[in-house]
Amino acid sequence: AAGLVIGAAGGAGVSAAVSGDGTAAGTGAGGAPALTTVGATEVMFHGKHQAGITDPLQSRGHLIAFDLAPGAGRKEAIALLRRWSVSAKALMAGKAPAGDTGVALDAGPSSLTVTIGFGRTFFDRTGLAARRPAQLDPLPAFSSDALDPRRSEGDLWVQIGADDALVAFHALRTLQKDAGDAARVRWQMNGFNRSAGATAKPMTARNLMGQVDGTGNPKPTDPDFDRRIFVPAGATGPAAWMAGGSYAVVRRIRMLLDDWEKLPLDRQEKVIGRRKSDGAPLTGGTETTELELNKLGPDGKLVIPDNAHSRISAPEQNGGAAMLRRPFSFHDGIGPDGTPDAGLLFICWQADPLRGFVPVQRKLDRGDALSEFIRHESSGLFAVPGGPAEGEYVGQRLLE
Ligand code: HEM
Repeated sequence: AAGLVIGAAGGAGVSAAVSGDGTAAGTGAGGAPALTTVGATEVMFHGKHQAGITDPLQSRGHLIAFDLAPGAGRKEAIALLRRWSVSAKALMAGKAPAGDTGVALDAGPSSLTVTIGFGRTFFDRTGLAARRPAQLDPLPAFSSDALDPRRSEGDLWVQIGADDALVAFHALRTLQKDAGDAARVRWQMNGFNRSAGATAKPMTARNLMGQVDGTGNPKPTDPDFDRRIFVPAGATGPAAWMAGGSYAVVRRIRMLLDDWEKLPLDRQEKVIGRRKSDGAPLTGGTETTELELNKLGPDGKLVIPDNAHSRISAPEQNGGAAMLRRPFSFHDGIGPDGTPDAGLLFICWQADPLRGFVPVQRKLDRGDALSEFIRHESSGLFAVPGGPAEGEYVGQRLLE
C-alpha cells in the first residue's frame, strides 16, 4: 500500500483549477481534461498488506458486512473472494469491470481501497473452524455498550474508501452485485472524512466533535509499528495464513452532540486533555508535543485531568497497548428523539486485539471523561488477511 501520511486527511493540497464554465482548466494529452492528483492517485491491490490500513484517510467510506447465504459454504466463498478480488483490483486501478454501470466512468482511481476481512462465524460456515485465530474470540462486554446485534459482526466485512463519493459508491455496488447468491448484506454504514485539498496543507483530521483526531497514532516510521499493527510474516500454527494481516475492530460510536456542544470550550478540552484549536496537549507545545501527564497547574491539580481521554488511552498507561485508528465520521440524519444520528465509525487496526483495543477500551469504560458523550452502538471484529500476491485472491492462503 502506498502513501503513509497517517491521520493526514488532505492529499497533496492540489486543487482542481476549474474555469468559469465548469470545465477543468488543465488539459492533458490530446486535449482531454487532466485528472487532478486527487483523481489520479492509485493504491496498489497486491502487496504485503491489504490496502486501506496504512493509507491516508479517504474522504468517503463504506463499511459493509455480509453473511454467507443459507447453503453456501467454502466452495461458494472461494468463488466470491475470487470475484471480489478481480473487481477490487480493476476498480482500484480505475478500470471498469465487465457489464459496468458507468457511475465512475469519468473519474480516476481516486485512492480507492477495498479491504476484505473474515468474521468469527465465517469459519463455522466454511468448515474452517480449526483455522480460526484465537484473536477472533468475542470481545468482552463493556458496561457502556448499547450494541445492536443486527448491525454488528458478520461472516465477511468489506471496507471501501475513496476520495470521490461516486467512485466509492460504484465500488460498493460492484462488490454487492458480485456477492450474487453467495452472500447477503447484513449491514452497511456510510462515512466520510475531510476532502483532500480542503485545508491549505495536509493536516490531521477532525471528528464531528471538532477535535483533532489521530495525533497519537503509531507512525509507520516507528520501529515497533509493524509488530503492533500486523501479524508477523513468519507466523506459524493454525492461523499462519494471517501472516501480514491485521485485526480490525469496528465500532459505530454515536456522539451525543447536543450534550457535547453545550459544554464550554475549556471543559471540552479537559475531556480530551488537548486543545481543540490545534490538538496540542493542555500542558503546552504543538500538536506533536508529548503530553506531560504529571504536570500540575497553579491550583495544584493535574493539568491533564485523571479521566482525560488522551491520558487513559495513552500506550504508556496501558502496558504499551496500541492500535492504529483509521475512522470515518458518519451522519445518518436526525433520530426519532430529534438528536443527530452522527458520530464515528471507529476502526482500529492491530496485530492482536488483546494487545490493542481490548485493554484500552476496558480502561476507558471504567471512567473516561468522554464516555458520557458517546454511545457504542455496534461492534465487529474481523481478521483481515495479508495482501494478495500477484495472481492470488484475498484470503487464498486460508481457503485453499
Ligand atoms: C486519542 C477522540 C474513541 C483510543 C484521542 C484523541 C481524540 C480522541 C480527540 C486525541 C488525539 C489523538 O491522539 O488522536 C475520540 C472520540 C471517540 C474515541 C471522539 C469516540 C467517538 C476511542 C476508542 C478508543 C480510543 C473507543 C479505543 C478503545 C484512543 C487512543 C488515543 C486516542 C489509543 C491515542 C492516545 C495516545 O497515543 O496518547 N481520541 N476517541 N478512542 N484515542 Fe480516542
